[in-house]
Amino acid sequence: MARIIGGLTTSHVPSIGAAIARGEQQTPYWKPFFDAFIPVHAWLEKEKPDLAIVIYNDHGLNFFLDRMPTFAVGAAARYDNADEGWGIPVLPSFEGDTELSWHMINGLVHDEFGITMCQEFLVDHAFTLPLKLMYPNAGARWPIKAIPVTINSVQHPLPSAARCWKLGQAIGRAVESFPKDMKVVVLGTGGLSHQLDGTRAGFINKPFDLMCMDKILNDPVALTRFSNREIIEQAGSQGVELMTWIAMRGALSGRVDTVTSMYHAPISNTGGAVMLLSNEPAPARLAAE
Ligand code: DHB
Ligand code: FE
Repeated sequence: MARIIGGLTTSHVPSIGAAIARGEQQTPYWKPFFDAFIPVHAWLEKEKPDLAIVIYNDHGLNFFLDRMPTFAVGAAARYDNADEGWGIPVLPSFEGDTELSWHMINGLVHDEFGITMCQEFLVDHAFTLPLKLMYPNAGARWPIKAIPVTINSVQHPLPSAARCWKLGQAIGRAVESFPKDMKVVVLGTGGLSHQLDGTRAGFINKPFDLMCMDKILNDPVALTRFSNREIIEQAGSQGVELMTWIAMRGALSGRVDTVTSMYHAPISNTGGAVMLLSNEPAPARLAAE
């Protein structure tokens, strides 16, 4: 059976791509952020996951305002990156897994989620940069397969935190009922607090971010009680990317522990955070197997 062995959350700002391209990882500005991935690399080396489900928000590369799915799931054999205009290198294509994609799509629709299933899917910085941070030495071929899942965080009305949590739970159920042996890691990318426009541009709320990091581990359901308006007030208008974290955590149904956790602000305009959580099968579930 497929197993979800962990969850990773990270900021996804495009300037990470520029810092990598310029070799700035060890400059004082970037060092705390890139160093947060040292324990992530050790964990990946040990655990060797086969596939990443990347829960993120598309920023206009694949979906624009004229057609905006609340939730979309990739069902392609291959996912290409493309130039978004940030001036960062386009990264090599990612291999998908259509069997698992369709299994997830069937599971999500069965669980009453209205999703858009995509047999073509361009993946943006919020998908590619976290994988590049995980595998900085990957050349033309990535050492992991990947499936994109997007949550609309651009065009109102946005899905609620509670709904994103349930989406994550449904993804978790689907993956863990997939009959092939494989190790899956679930990513939630974006956040934490940031606002890129309007009079509050540059807004970062460190106490709120730290509270989210604590709750994501210890009491994720508490985060599902925030309304979207409250999240935007507390975390900024782009801080709703927190939804991807909540969905990631919903997919982890076992005994969850921190492998590593780091907060550093600002990373570009965001409260920059990286968390890697391990997910051990819960004792009750082990007993039932
Ligand atoms: C920035 C943050 C984002 O989440 C994003 O998608 C683009 C830019 C930033 O802070 O620069
Ligand atoms: Fe973003």
